Amino acid sequence: MAQHDTVGSDDLGPDDVDLDHFVDVDDFQRAAEARMPEPYRDFVNNVGMEETLRGDLAAWAELRLRPRALVDVSHVDTSVTVLGTELSAPIITAPFIGSALVDDDAEVATARGATAAGTVSTLSMMGTRGPEAVGPAAGGRYWQQLYWMRDRSIVQDVVERAVAAGASALCLTVDLPVRPAFPSRMRAADRAMRGLWEGPEQAFYVIHDYREKPEEGKRSDTSVTWRDLEWLSGLSELPLILKGIIRPEDAVLAREHGASAVIVSNHAGQGLRFSMPVAHALPEIVEAVGGEIEVLADSGIRTGSDVARALALGARAVLIGRPTLWGLTVGGAAGVERVIRILSDELAEVMALTGAPRLADIDGAILAPPRGDR
Ligand SMILES: Cc1cc2nc3c(=O)[nH]c(=O)nc-3n(C[C@H](O)[C@H](O)[C@H](O)COP(=O)(O)O)c2cc1C
Repeated sequence: MAQHDTVGSDDLGPDDVDLDHFVDVDDFQRAAEARMPEPYRDFVNNVGMEETLRGDLAAWAELRLRPRALVDVSHVDTSVTVLGTELSAPIITAPFIGSALVDDDAEVATARGATAAGTVSTLSMMGTRGPEAVGPAAGGRYWQQLYWMRDRSIVQDVVERAVAAGASALCLTVDLPVRPAFPSRMRAADRAMRGLWEGPEQAFYVIHDYREKPEEGKRSDTSVTWRDLEWLSGLSELPLILKGIIRPEDAVLAREHGASAVIVSNHAGQGLRFSMPVAHALPEIVEAVGGEIEVLADSGIRTGSDVARALALGARAVLIGRPTLWGLTVGGAAGVERVIRILSDELAEVMALTGAPRLADIDGAILAPPRGDR
């Protein structure tokens, strides 16, 4: 398992945290939560509206694995090609807001960590650092996430900046046309978190960079439909990924409208409340698109075993949001790198124990059949 060495002492985090002592993502979560500003921690934990995320965690865990005997697993290879880019493991960092609240280099550090681990990071359009900072740090291994704002000139400009910065894909988030009215505790956390921004460096770069443009144009364009994707696709040569697909008919429409990939995601519980778990939505979507576009998944991936489960259901790769954020909080770029390597090592171990030395060997047979079939 050549690709699965542990991080050396050169990779100490910003506070001289010895990352070698962090064994799993759970370790990172605990350490990160002790360091994060309280409102941000509460926001990240979906305080008062935890049910969707809880459903995702439970649904992954419910999928039980079946070991395989006497397969040559002396070489286990976790590498994969996603949208034409070879990655060391099928693990990509998801876009999220607020990075500068936990690390001075924010998304730049995340990009460095993901690139060092041999994979890709996704920069939120609501992030704190712009494409010009993140692109060079990522060395071409970065995706630009987009929200569709009413002022299309802003969307167009962000796309052009992303292209100039070396982004390799655009990732349009389609599951939040309206911002949900959070319940009381989440609302308070959101408000308090926004009170923590200290000037433009910590605020959203789109708000800062386009401050002369009317606020109205920065709101979500709630009228956008499938027809509008043509305009977005026409802005660049970059492949388009649609993030936040749960229904198979939407995955088929994504394919028909030229998307190269979909991310099956429920925004890990920050969008529609009581959304169904990704693990339950994934198989139908994989079947519906019939291998013609790539299917990725996120929401509640916490272990290499979860990665293997998602792949067994047909995903090509997964995205990780909170685990990335916890790694960033604890150890900056090195923390992000360590989180990805831990998940990758855990995945390699599951592959060895289920007799699947290459990712292509992972299929539904590694999962226990649903109880009714036994
Ligand atoms: C604090 C936070 C902020 C997020 N911000 C964004 C965002 O700006 N754009 C987006 O598409 N998704 C955003 N997401 C969703 C993530 O990209 C991803 O779908 C989700 O975190 C994956 O689940 P996980 O955190 O359990 O890995 C955010 C998630 C969190 C927790």
